[in-house]
Amino acid sequence: MKIVVCGTGYVGLVHAAVCSEYGHQVYAYDNDPEKLAAFSSGQAERIETYVNEPGLANIIREMLDRYLFFASDLASIIEGTDTVFMCLPTPPNLDGSTNLTFYDAAAQQLAQLLAQRKDQRRVVVVNKSTVPIGTARHLEKILNSHNVENFGISANPEFLAEGTAVAQARRPDRVVVGCDHEQDHKILRRVYSQFVHHVRIKYIETSPETAEAIKYVANTMLLTYISFWNGVGAKIGEKIPNVNIDDLRLGVTADERISTWGSFVSNGAGGSCFGKDIASLINQLRKVNVSTKMLEASYEVNEYQKIYLVDRAITEAGFKFNNKTVAVLGLAFKKHTNDMRDASSIKVIESLLGKGTARINAYDPLANESAKQVFDPSKNVLFEKIDYFDSAREAIKNSDALFISSDCEEFRGLSRTVEELVKPPYLIMDGRRMIPDHDDLVSKDYSYIAVGSMVLGPAYA
Ligand SMILES: NC(=O)c1ccc[n+]([C@@H]2O[C@H](COP(=O)([O-])OP(=O)(O)OC[C@H]3O[C@@H](n4cnc5c(N)ncnc54)[C@H](O)[C@@H]3O)[C@@H](O)[C@H]2O)c1
Repeated sequence: MKIVVCGTGYVGLVHAAVCSEYGHQVYAYDNDPEKLAAFSSGQAERIETYVNEPGLANIIREMLDRYLFFASDLASIIEGTDTVFMCLPTPPNLDGSTNLTFYDAAAQQLAQLLAQRKDQRRVVVVNKSTVPIGTARHLEKILNSHNVENFGISANPEFLAEGTAVAQARRPDRVVVGCDHEQDHKILRRVYSQFVHHVRIKYIETSPETAEAIKYVANTMLLTYISFWNGVGAKIGEKIPNVNIDDLRLGVTADERISTWGSFVSNGAGGSCFGKDIASLINQLRKVNVSTKMLEASYEVNEYQKIYLVDRAITEAGFKFNNKTVAVLGLAFKKHTNDMRDASSIKVIESLLGKGTARINAYDPLANESAKQVFDPSKNVLFEKIDYFDSAREAIKNSDALFISSDCEEFRGLSRTVEELVKPPYLIMDGRRMIPDHDDLVSKDYSYIAVGSMVLGPAYA
């Protein structure tokens, strides 16, 4: 099949790369020429500046100019294509609704080009972006308004999780394809032939609207489950003596109907999707007069969770952030990625600086550079107080307190480092319960607050 991918971000680039592995001719287009130059170089370091996913750069290097091509001109690749995958950003508007500006601009450009095709073979335009229910129908109108002929529209939402995107694209839980016509389903079946009739992968064919709804319900369900543990399980562990959150989790999730995934309490879930997707679904449901109380609660619990350890440090441990240096470890929204979108660290650092923290010693194994763009001092002068370090050790040295904001595995060994480099009084705020042997530190008079547990060790006067 000839496949065009429009938008080479996390979703588009991974999709293009993995489709090329299955022998399709994949042409990937983006309107950012610098990105395209980096991807066409085949050099891991340049590719990973934009999308850092395990295994991705290798596939690109192997498939480049054989099955995978990058183009800065959509017109040059559109002729004779069987499908166009729309992988455009769909950020939130201030009211939570989905901003379709990027999507619409690309759809309009595509429609003009498809209308001028010489080869009039059937083309299916497929939404992989997460878009409000009804957007495939909206796309159909755009294509019709340009008199495009012989086309179908489809919704084929993406479910990948960053950090494991390649593995998941090679072997997803399910592939959801929404089309109006059998002939379009047939084209998509050829694109995804490796997954159709797979014994473990569910290949679900449905209407475009149902496919769009599946994505929103799935994502908001995941966030709601995370928020349940953070808003209920964690709070029981923090407020009621002798409740051990780890045992609580094990006991509850022993029931096979209750998922282990999402039961690990934390300082909130970040990333480009959860927050914006739940906000968008709230907005979509309000328009059809459906109560959104439950979704609003999930959203609010998650947002407050990002900063509440800072509040607990003050109210429960008596810590004063004024003029202190705080090491913040784990800037990306989770391990194995440099993606800073909606990362909990953003709220954490803003909160710390707002409480008078003198310096932030920041460290992330992959995201220091992308963090510098987020914490741009020209947007907020307080960000001048952030210094970046190449290791957790360097960041912890000379600090008064430590905040662990993501789940990078290397943080599990931090108790030794802390003991070696900083003497008590010293406060550790553990947003991911990453220090299994924290009891050792507490026995040596370090103060420790983790999500899901009461404050351990001495309180500050
Ligand atoms: N990142 C994820 O984990 C994830 C998972 C599932 C679904 N999604 C959804 O997939 C969509 C894309 O997300 P992403 O993370 O890949 O976004 P992204 O911002 O990483 O990538 C989008 C790309 O589109 C390009 N672009 C913007 N306007 C364009 C235009 N007019 N023509 C061509 N290219 C254009 C940008 O330069 C960028 O490279 C969103 O709707 C998102 O909600 C994302």
